[in-house]
Amino acid sequence: MVKALKWTADLSIGIDLIDAQHKRIVDYINQLNDARQTGEKKAVGLVLEGLAEYTLSHFGYEEAVMTAARFPGTARHRRGHERFARQLAEYGHRYALGEEVAAEVLDTLNKWLLNHIKREDHDYMDLVKATLSPAQLASILADCSAAR
Ligand SMILES: [Fe+2]
Ligand SMILES: [Fe+2]
Repeated sequence: MVKALKWTADLSIGIDLIDAQHKRIVDYINQLNDARQTGEKKAVGLVLEGLAEYTLSHFGYEEAVMTAARFPGTARHRRGHERFARQLAEYGHRYALGEEVAAEVLDTLNKWLLNHIKREDHDYMDLVKATLSPAQLASILADCSAAR
């Protein structure tokens, strides 16, 4: 039995909206774990779909913020996002073909999320905070929400 993933303070990157999005991704991971344990195939598919969509939207927010702060690692970070999005799409495809992918997805997600938040996202946070005022940051994030 896989334990539920818990949100801990060290996962916070200090931008409330981005933190809230990461928390939501943690929720998705736990939902996927539940769906897998109860053996509900349909639920696994629904969570996978929701997770892929939500993650893509989250990436859009992050990329807008780091672009505005002229973070030098933006292109690299974006490539990491793209790689992960392709991986999620691949899982969705395999799921649609009837494969049991939940355990593999969970394993990938657990590793990815921790690395993504604790290392990659932390990398851009300092520059974003130093470069953008809270008002600028709020306005960029609001534009992202409006575009969705
Ligand atoms: Fe992130
Ligand atoms: Fe990221």
